[in-house]
Amino acid sequence: MCGIVAVIGSQEAAPLLLSGLRQLEYRGYDSAGLATVGADKGDHLATLTCRRAKGKLNNLAELVDRKGSPGHLGIGHTRWATHGKPEEHNAHPHRDSSGSLAVVQNGIIENYRFLRNELESEGIEFASETDTEVIPHLIAREIKHLQTNGCSSSGSILLEAVQKVSLQLKGAYALAVVWAETPDALVVARRQAPLVIGLGEGEFLCASDTPALAGFTRTILPMEDGEVALLTPLGIELYDHTGQRQKRSPSFLTSAEHVVDKRNFRHFMLKEIHEQPETAELWVARHLPNGLPEEVPVALPFDKSFYEGIEQIQILACGTSRHAAMVGAYLLEQFAGIPTSVFYASEFRYSAPPLVPNTLTIGVTQSGETADTLAALSMESERRNSHVNSAYSSRQLGITNRPESSLARQVTNILDIGAGIEIGVAATKTFLGQLFAFYGLALNFAARRNSRQPDEIRTLLEELRSVPNQLKVLIEKHDQLSEDLAPRFSGTQDVIFLGRGINYPIALEGALKLKEISYIHAEGYPAGEMKHGPIALLEPRVPVISIATPGVVFEKVLSNAQEAKARDAQLIGIAPEGPETEIFDALMPIPEVSEWISPLLSVVPMQLLSYHIAAHRGLDVDQPRNLAKSVTVE
Ligand code: M6R
Repeated sequence: MCGIVAVIGSQEAAPLLLSGLRQLEYRGYDSAGLATVGADKGDHLATLTCRRAKGKLNNLAELVDRKGSPGHLGIGHTRWATHGKPEEHNAHPHRDSSGSLAVVQNGIIENYRFLRNELESEGIEFASETDTEVIPHLIAREIKHLQTNGCSSSGSILLEAVQKVSLQLKGAYALAVVWAETPDALVVARRQAPLVIGLGEGEFLCASDTPALAGFTRTILPMEDGEVALLTPLGIELYDHTGQRQKRSPSFLTSAEHVVDKRNFRHFMLKEIHEQPETAELWVARHLPNGLPEEVPVALPFDKSFYEGIEQIQILACGTSRHAAMVGAYLLEQFAGIPTSVFYASEFRYSAPPLVPNTLTIGVTQSGETADTLAALSMESERRNSHVNSAYSSRQLGITNRPESSLARQVTNILDIGAGIEIGVAATKTFLGQLFAFYGLALNFAARRNSRQPDEIRTLLEELRSVPNQLKVLIEKHDQLSEDLAPRFSGTQDVIFLGRGINYPIALEGALKLKEISYIHAEGYPAGEMKHGPIALLEPRVPVISIATPGVVFEKVLSNAQEAKARDAQLIGIAPEGPETEIFDALMPIPEVSEWISPLLSVVPMQLLSYHIAAHRGLDVDQPRNLAKSVTVE
């Protein structure tokens, strides 16, 4: 959940660290800190300088500007608080008792309580409430043991100490360590949390995510689970968890998607909403080329065997990805005829349903790093692969926007949604990309299983081809419309979102968007469920936003909306213009399209309205309180 960055090379480390952290701030922004190792002017001995500040990165940047932080070697951190309040004393880096060794960490050390008690019983005093602080003390203790046993004070002693300590840590983590005694060595390690090494010109870097490296290099080496690496000005030594030296060729960042830029938009979220026609256009160009055979109408990177013999599908995801999964489940069941269930990944881990043979498990995570989703997938694959009957063995697919992520290293079949990097904490264009991935899967399954007539498949394909242009028009129109509507919500405390069928998950998504960036309490309900309780909440101060798109439940949704209106609720419709939709106090019009593709359009007014309400309230849309873009802790 936090972001870490480390650098060793010929340039001053602090500006490189700050620039890397700027690209990682989406991972957490409760506090930030850095530690550098270098000699102050005139001094011969290297010392460790540590600067930390509560709040956003700018506070740290100002501090470093004022006080400096010399050295060509350093580590940096941007924090999303787990253990200990977001105060300066809990900000990373954390140091050992001598103050000469510093550590930054992303993850959770599950056995930190036990380790802390042990260290405290040896007389070590702790300066923070964090789980991370045990690590510098453990490494310092290990170094002492190694020195007592005659190991010399070089980079290898730090490496050996980190290797030994990583065996004592339980949980998921990525960490970076510097020590004033080894000014030519930086040690990094990862287990179940991401870490990528960058090979620059004159320096080596390491970071939680590639955007932090992209400004310096396109040559990267993603670290594997359990690996520890020693970085020196001369090169990299990579070791697996058993201490075996590893040799691997680097890979290359290929596209401009790793460069983060707000263009002329006020916020990343608004820019990303506006990028959706492009996301759709790219998907259509990549996956719907002309001339594909009828039995594979969508170009996806899987062979025929991928689609064969599947009896049921289960989808594991969190947050917005879960809402995309719910639309996906509707398509896979109703269009392709395959029984499909969606689970919160965090629940599935501890209460998975009994095994059914020939099951495809799909993990959906835009970041590819969500700890709950990764752990649920790995638990599922373990329990299936240990089954004696091979019909139960694990078949998995990952849908992600980050094909270089941990998900892609864990799951063999990957569907890259190719939406380009998303910085706003509220997912928008990646949601759209995930929806498109499910349309592709549903179409291919339907075609291969003959669950739909060829002309039904052709119609859906044509409709999907029309979506990029429809999105362009819709976004232009609704940007202004939502901005005009936003002031109506200045005193609003609760909002109800209603949808049915394929648009029920869109109601949930609308409520999530509004909650997370505007801090207004919002709930999404299936429209028909209102009368079973939630209708008691309705009164003139509670707006109801209802998605009513023509299709099997159109009239039903309109009747549900009427029921809300009869309770004096302010009624806002996301629906096509026409006599039926005159019941709404305000209409956010969407084109009249088939029910199948309606979620691709109905979500847009939700995104823009949430955005403008939050912006109108003067809130930090891209970095809402308490959240982080990728949730790498359980
Ligand atoms: O990276 P993931 O798709 O796995 O992330 C899952 C959720 O944390 C994420 O969708 C979250 O709900 C977003 N902030 C929603 O806007």
